[in-house]
Amino acid sequence: MAALRKGGPGIPPPPKGPLRGLFRRLVPPTLDLDDIQALILRPRPAPYYGSHAFVEITDPAGGREAVRKLLTRVTSAADWREPRPAWTAAALTYPGLEALEVPRSSLESFPRAFREGMAARADRLRDHGPNDPSRWQSPFGTGRVHLMVSVYADSEEAWRRELTGYEEQLSMLTGLRVLLRQDFGAQPDSRNAFGFKDGFTQPVVEGSGVEGWPGDGRAIRPGEFILGYPSEGGHVLDSPAPDSLGRNGTYLVFRKYHSHVDAFNRYLHRGADTEEGRELLAAKLVGRWRSGAPLELAPDHDDPELGADDSRNNDFRYSGDALGLRTPVGSHIRRMNPRDTQLKVLSDVNIRRIIRRSTTYGEPLGDSLRDDGRPRGLDFIAISARAIDTVEFLQSEWINSGNFIGRGTEKDPLLGVQDDNAYFTVPGTPPRRISGIETFNTLDGGEYFFMPSLTALKWLGDL
Ligand code: HEM
Repeated sequence: MAALRKGGPGIPPPPKGPLRGLFRRLVPPTLDLDDIQALILRPRPAPYYGSHAFVEITDPAGGREAVRKLLTRVTSAADWREPRPAWTAAALTYPGLEALEVPRSSLESFPRAFREGMAARADRLRDHGPNDPSRWQSPFGTGRVHLMVSVYADSEEAWRRELTGYEEQLSMLTGLRVLLRQDFGAQPDSRNAFGFKDGFTQPVVEGSGVEGWPGDGRAIRPGEFILGYPSEGGHVLDSPAPDSLGRNGTYLVFRKYHSHVDAFNRYLHRGADTEEGRELLAAKLVGRWRSGAPLELAPDHDDPELGADDSRNNDFRYSGDALGLRTPVGSHIRRMNPRDTQLKVLSDVNIRRIIRRSTTYGEPLGDSLRDDGRPRGLDFIAISARAIDTVEFLQSEWINSGNFIGRGTEKDPLLGVQDDNAYFTVPGTPPRRISGIETFNTLDGGEYFFMPSLTALKWLGDL
């Protein structure tokens, strides 16, 4: 876990233990932490290990029994500020709620996008070409993914212990079928498939019991992330009925990306002749060096010490860099969180924030220019009370278009579905337009989930 600065005047020492670097200090929580699922608030450990299981409910009574059993394993956020060896999260798709025979009046109280599911929303998500649902890996988009159960652990032993517990329990249950198990983590230094450290910027949820570091921004009203609380607009967002089903729940968007690291490496070679130049271009595409150091604070050279220092590595804005000379306006992190960038299309960035709990799978390819045929990539996970709307917005406006930053048809360099003439612009005098950018991450599938509270899981199990 990241090293810590000792703390400036007026900043009390951070909490002890492995989570110490992630928040500035503890304050009394006001949310129902013992009813909220841990994954919403608990940060990913470093190193991390785990699995996502995608499950079909084949019989309603058996499914409800499984939910009752699961309830004993799903972890609450009660102790989320303390280290823990492993925790479990559970979430259901709309077909999953139907499979449990949730009453029609409740089913109809869910938002339309959730009911339709990710595959049916491909147009809004701009999931075309290589990302089209017709090309997804089974079982995504088939309607058979009902339940997602995720285990996160801070060691291989803790992860295996949890899995053994599940396997024993599963062998005694009927009415369930595990369609796919996706193991993740265990990468050296917890880096993603492209060799970047990730998971740095997370919104601070008001009432969750912590204060963020400078640069994390002000705490965001809890209703943006958890149903049943005031949102940024002051009102409580619509939530599924009855209250025992909706309150303290949230939405989770899962997108499984296959990373084409060989194509990324070839593009770096196309844009730069030296190792140093290639590292700078990689940082320009993302907005951070591979160590996590932000370009805004380390514009010319990587600074791994800065990258590892949670009290500093997120403490930046873009207003002093309107032209993107340090952090290109089209880089991944500046698109995904423009902070104080003057946008060409007005938008409230504070209602576009997501909690990310993404996990990397597969072994690193390194700097090879040729694919080895082995799968690697990112299980992208976004959590918020508006997660579906936000991801649909990000996909259509901030990822697959450049209008909001005056960049026309230029797309997010990591996520855009690129055409043959695609390019990335590195601002400067003169600016450099580097063509030949490819779709570095293609979508293997995904689903929209509702993540119930512990009370709601009980309600579902007892239906
Ligand atoms: C394979 C797919 C992806 C890769 C390799 C990737 C990589 C990264 C990296 C390296 C960072 C900087 C470190 C960090 O704060 O985590 C980052 C930040 C971020 N990414 Fe991604 N990402 C991917 C997919 C996505 C998707 C699908 C979204 C949203 C729809 C997204 C939204 C964000 C956001 C919001 C940030 C934080 C920006 C900030 O607050 O400064 N990413 N990503």
